[in-house]
Amino acid sequence: MKVQGTIEKYYHYAFPMQTVLVTCNDAKGNTNIITLAWHTPISRNPPLYGISISPKRYSYTLIKKSKEFVINFIPYSHVETAEYCGTHSGRNTDKLCQTGLTLIPAKKLSTPLIKEGYAHLECTLVKNLSLGDHTLFVGKVVAVSADENAFENELLRTDRIHPVYYIGQNAYTTLDRIKRKTF
Ligand SMILES: Cc1cc2nc3c(=O)[nH]c(=O)nc-3n(C[C@H](O)[C@H](O)[C@H](O)COP(=O)(O)O)c2cc1C
Repeated sequence: MKVQGTIEKYYHYAFPMQTVLVTCNDAKGNTNIITLAWHTPISRNPPLYGISISPKRYSYTLIKKSKEFVINFIPYSHVETAEYCGTHSGRNTDKLCQTGLTLIPAKKLSTPLIKEGYAHLECTLVKNLSLGDHTLFVGKVVAVSADENAFENELLRTDRIHPVYYIGQNAYTTLDRIKRKTF
């Protein structure tokens, strides 16, 4: 038997969604951090990555101006940091200072990476599409880097690195094992 859902909350059926920290700079080079669950690869060639951000967010203004952003994939040990950066605005909080995260230079952008992340996508903005109450920022991936022990033959070692997943209602989960194909 199926139960009827609420269309306004349709996106709950897409949870769990991996949660990332996106870094973006203001005109003076100060870095802000926003937590995002709505993000996705879009194209292999050219390499495009999409993030969906509400115009209410401070980061929306920053990315529109700077035309670049970095996706930082983070381990579950930083789940509280993700919650903090997703519930405070850079308009009135220095999230970097409050979280104690460490910034390191990017290869191709002036926007830095978060050292505590295990993988990073450096993106330059190629398009922004206003779609309903969010804007889809499409970035061209211009450099990628990851912790040396995070991936083995492009496979995330979830037995070593436990990614953060958001399941809605301020709740999170993670992955901690690998089932390899045996057939
Ligand atoms: C787990 C989680 C996921 C979130 N995902 C998104 C998202 O995909 N898009 C968005 O616009 N806001 C999302 N938010 C809300 C922003 O992170 C939040 O409003 C943040 O305080 C905005 O910061 P800023 O004003 O410094 O940009 C999410 C929040 C949390 C806690």
